[in-house]
Amino acid sequence: MARPRNGAGHHYAHVVGWGVAVPEQVMTNADIERLVETNDKWIRDRTGIAERRIADERDTAATLGARAARKALYNADILPRDVDLIVVATSSPEYFFPSTASLIQDRIGATRAAGFDLLAACTGFIYALDMATAKIKCGQIETAIVIGTEVMSRVLDWSDRSTCILFGDGAGAFVLKANDMPGGVMETVLHSDGSGSNLLTVGTGMRPVWNGQHGPQHVEMNGREVFRFATRVMASATEEVVELAGCSMGDVDLIVPHQANLRIIQAAARSLRMQPEQFVVNLDRYGNTSAASIPIAVAEAAEEGRIRPNQTIVLVGFGAGLTWGATLIEWAVKPTPATAIRDVVREGQIIFGAIQSFWRRVFRYIGSALFRPPARLYGETFRRWTKRQNTKRKDGSQEDEQ
Ligand code: UT7
Repeated sequence: MARPRNGAGHHYAHVVGWGVAVPEQVMTNADIERLVETNDKWIRDRTGIAERRIADERDTAATLGARAARKALYNADILPRDVDLIVVATSSPEYFFPSTASLIQDRIGATRAAGFDLLAACTGFIYALDMATAKIKCGQIETAIVIGTEVMSRVLDWSDRSTCILFGDGAGAFVLKANDMPGGVMETVLHSDGSGSNLLTVGTGMRPVWNGQHGPQHVEMNGREVFRFATRVMASATEEVVELAGCSMGDVDLIVPHQANLRIIQAAARSLRMQPEQFVVNLDRYGNTSAASIPIAVAEAAEEGRIRPNQTIVLVGFGAGLTWGATLIEWAVKPTPATAIRDVVREGQIIFGAIQSFWRRVFRYIGSALFRPPARLYGETFRRWTKRQNTKRKDGSQEDEQ
């Protein structure tokens, strides 16, 4: 049991619900063999990946994230209107702005919630979890949804065999809730080392100057260096957070690592002297879903009963930045079984939110059409003003000549 560090009367942030949304379309290693010079054996041996999910044109980071969030709300038996904050970790948003969090807030009818996106690449979920936990622990909010959601397939160079084999699409979400019972998200360590920023990048596609050509916008990676960095920090961040929580490695029941490469996870297990069975692994089915990989793995493990109340689990991630971090969770609260009436209210709030959003758009449209001064009024005012200026200028130059 981790040492409680909160003062009396302060809240703990418990994970009370979780949800996953992955696209239906499966892309196997055999499918990738048709795109680049590679083979199933090489991909399995070097990464452990067998297949990944690929979003179709109907899905975005927002739609996948919203589906995962709805499942997490259902699982936690929380109503959308009770959500105070939505934090989204993504590296593949549809827009720079609006944020994916705002789009999800609208889709799930969380009409009272604030929302923002956060970018820390594959470590994003650990960062996002910490931001939401801090708001709960300091008593500013009661309920938050933390989402990792990615459509990495849209930022891959599908002719680069060293990267396109690795990634997949999907979303995972947690509902965090304040509770005075000790437990929940106990400690987090976060790190960043920008000296390695060139090792793993996705350009914004922005022009270097206003009239230049658009820049690159796909994953570029020095795989070997990222591999070396990952094997080092997975173990060190885990040990650091365990020590900070006042625990020992023997207290840890399960580790949920970022799902990048099976060999990285095996190296971390060896270095931490833990059994491979203590690591949750699902990358064989989803590949690396970046910020979504940890919440998807946690949600699946919880559904399968591998994560149970009173267990101590560590989530550990690493990625571009370079960034890395780990969180120690005392899994304490059993999910509350939802009643039929609460389900009806929840669906009602989602539908009400959608109707409210629709009417707001309509009123905004009508309002701007009704109250916009007609263009010809602007035109007439501008014509009179330029005439007056020209007359003044003419008068002035005549006086100068005299
Ligand atoms: O979320 C964080 C994201 N990134 C990561 O976690 C990535 C970490 N790195 C890795 O997982 C591994 O470095 C990779 C899986 C990307 C590559 O595995 P590796 O064992 O480090 O291979 P390598 O880069 O050292 O390449 C070995 C050989 C090369 O051929 P040569 O130069 O030895 O003739 C590559 O060209 O394998 C070749 N290769 C491939 N061959 C078949 C690279 N990609 C492929 C491929 N299929 N897909």
